[in-house]
Amino acid sequence: MQEEKIRKEVREGYAKIAKEEPSSRPTTSCCGSSPTHEELSKKMGYTSEELNSIPKGSNLGLGCGNPVALASLKEGETVIDLGSGAGVDCFLAAKKVGEKGKVIGIDMTPEMLDKARENTRKGNYENVEFRLGEIEHLPVADNKADVVISNCVINLTSNKKKVYEEAFRVLKPGGRIMVSDLVLKKELSAAIREEAHPSSCIKTAIMKDKYLETIEEVGFKDIRILDERQYCSEELTNDSDAKVIIANRNTNAQELKSISELDEKSKKYVEEVLASTLSVNVSAIKP
Ligand SMILES: C[S@@+](CC[C@H](N)C(=O)[O-])C[C@H]1O[C@@H](n2cnc3c(N)ncnc32)[C@H](O)[C@@H]1O
Repeated sequence: MQEEKIRKEVREGYAKIAKEEPSSRPTTSCCGSSPTHEELSKKMGYTSEELNSIPKGSNLGLGCGNPVALASLKEGETVIDLGSGAGVDCFLAAKKVGEKGKVIGIDMTPEMLDKARENTRKGNYENVEFRLGEIEHLPVADNKADVVISNCVINLTSNKKKVYEEAFRVLKPGGRIMVSDLVLKKELSAAIREEAHPSSCIKTAIMKDKYLETIEEVGFKDIRILDERQYCSEELTNDSDAKVIIANRNTNAQELKSISELDEKSKKYVEEVLASTLSVNVSAIKP
């Protein structure tokens, strides 16, 4: 029941983001906010060249890494993107796998799919397809994919094991995952968990060790953390981060000029989130 309730709230949260005009909100990701999507995305590892190569509106600044840059995609490969949003990583992957390859984005939020499909038309992509579905029940046949990617999505589900089992099922033997995600390096207090909005990426985030164990339990081998960094780096520990976290708490965050202007409770919230989270890029192989 709790799982369903969280899923519903996550879906509603992202439906709202999908329908917003880009300029009408601060750039909001699991990791914070920034004046522009592009600026935030560069902090996550995207280059300007990559961002300029995809249709406008496909990057909503919602990721926490750049999985395509690390996935060593080859021409002709089939890629599945779990929680594809407006399509940013699918379009970057499409270029790498070429016309003989195929990219399938899966998302459970119809409003995000509408956006992603509109972007597909804008960019004339013939090798990209978006499917409505939950990452815990992938609408994909067994042994289809060479690579499964995902960007800042698996933290949002209460059933991470099911997601990784599904990724394992749809991969061909020898296939690989490349996932950018948010994990915890320190347990969050019950109060912070309680207060966090389900779409804020910390509500159902788990400890890094547990996360890696889950990937191992479902049968993946050669599990590697390619890089990890402070989820919101020191320079991001500023007004814009505070704003988005406080925005999730439904207060008048837009008015804030700096973290020092936060009330004590909000400041504690921001500090605890920053001290407890990590952004990781994880790869693994289906034997
Ligand atoms: C943080 S956004 C990331 C979007 C995209 N990966 C990006 O980097 O821009 C999370 C996306 O995952 C989708 N999502 C969250 N939980 C999901 C689930 N259980 N099944 C399918 N999609 C899900 C949301 O609808 C949303 O589009």
